Amino acid sequence: METESTAVTGGDTTTYSWPANGVAVYGAAITAAAMAVGYAALYVRRSAKFRSQVVGIIPARYASSRFQGKPLVRILGKPMIQRTWERAKLATTLSQLVVATDDERIAECCRGFGADVVMTSESCRNGTERCYEALLSLEKKFDIVINIQGDEPLIEPEIIDGVVKVLQVSPDAVFSTAVTSLKAEDASDPNRVKCVVDNCGYAIYFSRGLVPFNKSGKVNPQFPYLLHLGIQSYEAKFLKLYTELSPTPLQLEEDLEQLKVLENGYKMKVIKVDHDAHGVDTPEDVEKIESLMRERNLS
Ligand SMILES: *[C@@H]1O[C@H](CO)[C@@H](O)[C@H](O)[C@H]1NC(C)=O
Ligand SMILES: *[C@@H]1O[C@H](CO)[C@@H](O)[C@H](O)[C@H]1NC(C)=O
Repeated sequence: METESTAVTGGDTTTYSWPANGVAVYGAAITAAAMAVGYAALYVRRSAKFRSQVVGIIPARYASSRFQGKPLVRILGKPMIQRTWERAKLATTLSQLVVATDDERIAECCRGFGADVVMTSESCRNGTERCYEALLSLEKKFDIVINIQGDEPLIEPEIIDGVVKVLQVSPDAVFSTAVTSLKAEDASDPNRVKCVVDNCGYAIYFSRGLVPFNKSGKVNPQFPYLLHLGIQSYEAKFLKLYTELSPTPLQLEEDLEQLKVLENGYKMKVIKVDHDAHGVDTPEDVEKIESLMRERNLS
């Protein structure tokens, strides 16, 4: 039931599209050429003052239960964190991009390829807390923080920009993120987080289970299920609150941090993009991503 979709400039064929009406939605808004003119003008005018200062933060820790030293693992000869950073550098909405880490080995590697590095404490319990600590130590004031996962080395800069822009044009939302089509074979994988949205593109719920659930008990091949991608951005003011809010029942039950936002009644805007998720969680994933890159002639 996708009403509009189009290709956005840049590297891979990234497509932003949105099911349903989509008038106020970023994806649809930049699609229709006729609409684009008016909307773009509005967008530019507003973004000139609203939430215009954006910092990209790549949180990176060395210790990991599943994959020690993961950010430094070489993917076709280049450290994974460098690949993520190089992709993020191409995003046009970021005023600054930093790597936030507690580890000197990671910091040294990142300074080596030219990244700004912020040292954060070892006590950060998750990437969000690390982003917040990094934000506090930056001199400049920012309106938006985008948390760019270091383990998605093939992240398209257009997705980063899309997540930022949708938050810039949605003053009622404090959080934005991205989803892509869920592959049928991932439907029952609890590590693949599903998302359902309302018809204006606001998140209703995230689950490790399949939502919506068809009464036949089977995956409905016709339904456009959505897979959540790890990238997220927050209004800077909200980030403080987000780290301080107590855990909530659904968050704890699903072990999904972002549910805390919805359970407290805050609005989260979601964009839909075309993206093959190739997150690197385990050492085995490295080989998979390398063969995929060879196939696609990416170096
Ligand atoms: C459930 O899925 C089937 C296809 O598997 C589809 O035909 C049907 O419309 C879906 N919804 C309901 C309410 O059964
Ligand atoms: C980060 O981890 C802490 C401890 O597990 C938790 O309380 C908090 O809700 C998590 N999320 C954020 C956004 O800080």
